[in-house]
Amino acid sequence: MRLSGKVAVVTGGARGIGRAIVERFAREGARVVVADILAEDAQSLADTLGGDAMAVALDVTRRDSIDAMVRDVVARRGGIDILVNNAAIFDMAPIVEVTEESWDRQFAINTKGLFFTLQAVAKQMIAQGRGGKIINMASQAGRRGEALVSVYCASKAAVISITQSAGLGLIKHRINVNGIAPGVVDTPMWDAVDALFARYENRPLGEKKRLVGEAVPFGRMGVPEDHAGAAAFLASADADYVVAQTLNVDGGNWMS
Ligand SMILES: NC(=O)c1ccc[n+]([C@@H]2O[C@H](COP(=O)([O-])OP(=O)(O)OC[C@H]3O[C@@H](n4cnc5c(N)ncnc54)[C@H](O)[C@@H]3O)[C@@H](O)[C@H]2O)c1
Repeated sequence: MRLSGKVAVVTGGARGIGRAIVERFAREGARVVVADILAEDAQSLADTLGGDAMAVALDVTRRDSIDAMVRDVVARRGGIDILVNNAAIFDMAPIVEVTEESWDRQFAINTKGLFFTLQAVAKQMIAQGRGGKIINMASQAGRRGEALVSVYCASKAAVISITQSAGLGLIKHRINVNGIAPGVVDTPMWDAVDALFARYENRPLGEKKRLVGEAVPFGRMGVPEDHAGAAAFLASADADYVVAQTLNVDGGNWMS
């Protein structure tokens, strides 16, 4: 088991990619913390996993909620060794229709929330003095703009940049900061994405999802579990010399 005894917080861990990472980390021996705004779903996942799994209600847009999460985990588990900064939301609209509210909400969760969760956990890891691993969930959307997805793409490009800066800033504390850039993944988020494309591209429901899946070089859309192995690697000692990278886990969609 690669993560034996490690305390691992996964934000947005109640469903989708975050949930698959929580389940994999638990199998790797980690003491997982499901931290999500969907408090009931987080608790039911922790109950299902049993053992040392725990749930914490977290809203990454609120600094008091982030600080309370760190305090709670430290009080109940003695520290934090791994953070997966996975919580995010998606929205889209043509450039001339983007609202300030949509911009603020996406950046509040995907970018600012991710940064200040990273900061709070990094402070705790520095105080512990035994290093740590932080994994930021980016996206192929952060590699290239898209006409209808400007704000989400920008929020994820910022995640790749934050990963580089924090990776460089924290490695002296033996805290590795790296990222994962998924491509298109069949999760509740993509159901919402498909409905938005149906509206803006005047398509039947489900068509966009089918087309993006067929376009993946691997031959299908990703599933949440496709990302769990990369996360387990980046969270493990095998990745000690991997610093400030964002790894594409996307079936071959993007090369960089
Ligand atoms: N699904 C995809 O195709 C895809 C592609 C590339 C990147 N990603 C990224 O992967 C990550 C997971 O995506 P997913 O598809 O599993 O999404 P999802 O919507 O299924 O899950 C996101 C989770 O984040 C939680 N969350 C939302 N706002 C929160 C907040 N303010 N505080 C705490 N938790 C909050 C949700 O409750 C949910 O459990 C995200 O960062 C997403 O941007 C997804």
